[in-house]
Amino acid sequence: MRSPVRDGYREVNRAGWQRLAARGVESSQPVSRNDLAYAHAWLDPDDWLPWARIATVLCLAAGGGQQGPLFASLGRHVTVLDLSAAQLERDRATAAVHGLAIETVQGDMLDLGALRPRRFDLVWQAVSSLYVPDVRRLYREVASVLEPGGLYRVEHCEPAAMQLAPRRPWDGRAYRLARPAMPKRDVWSDHAGGVLWQYRHSLEDLLGGLCDAGFAIVRVAERSAPTLGDEPGSYEHVSRYLPSFISVLARYEAGRRP
Ligand SMILES: C[S@@+](CC[C@H](N)C(=O)[O-])C[C@H]1O[C@@H](n2cnc3c(N)ncnc32)[C@H](O)[C@@H]1O
Repeated sequence: MRSPVRDGYREVNRAGWQRLAARGVESSQPVSRNDLAYAHAWLDPDDWLPWARIATVLCLAAGGGQQGPLFASLGRHVTVLDLSAAQLERDRATAAVHGLAIETVQGDMLDLGALRPRRFDLVWQAVSSLYVPDVRRLYREVASVLEPGGLYRVEHCEPAAMQLAPRRPWDGRAYRLARPAMPKRDVWSDHAGGVLWQYRHSLEDLLGGLCDAGFAIVRVAERSAPTLGDEPGSYEHVSRYLPSFISVLARYEAGRRP
């Protein structure tokens, strides 16, 4: 049975991303023809992916005219699933401009039933698990649309970075972790005019949850701003103290018991 509290994230975040896309935030900026020349480096900066074994790709929660067209430009058969129609429209428009074929599906990453029984060689997920309340359920859904041995590349927000105080996190000498780690709490944010519900997931759920869902973790990397900055509170300054994101490559081992 649907519950407004449990399922509210879907409506709130769909509306929030519709507004962010209309404002043309960075995550809604389509790739240019020049960007296509760097598709490989953009999608796989650490050279983790066995490209020769990847024919079908699900770009999960990755609308906005970026990853879908980039994978298509590398000759992959691409499906993009995203909650926001406006983000998916960016993908279709970008693909059309560059003469690329991609399929778009509007949906929630916590219910990939519309894609089943199809299975993909790779699920590539942009930073987005913070928009859903249950990352373990997300992993089960991803497993259900991956070929046995298929790969899942996902980037998450570092849980500690989500504990920073929302306002004035830098107190002049140190960053303040003002949000408790436990119990897990829903975080509201008003980002560029779009209200989004965000959820902090523990490392236990982000990494342990993958193992529990039948994945083997293959690679892990922490990500910060590429250059360190001096402006307190900026992404570049926070990066002096704390990585903002964690990237994971995992392989789905069907039937495996941890
Ligand atoms: C930060 S953007 C990531 C994609 C973008 N191409 C990028 O690289 O920045 C987050 C995306 O997640 C999508 N999203 C949020 N909640 C979702 C959900 N429950 N299911 C599927 N997509 C969702 C948003 O619509 C948005 O396109």
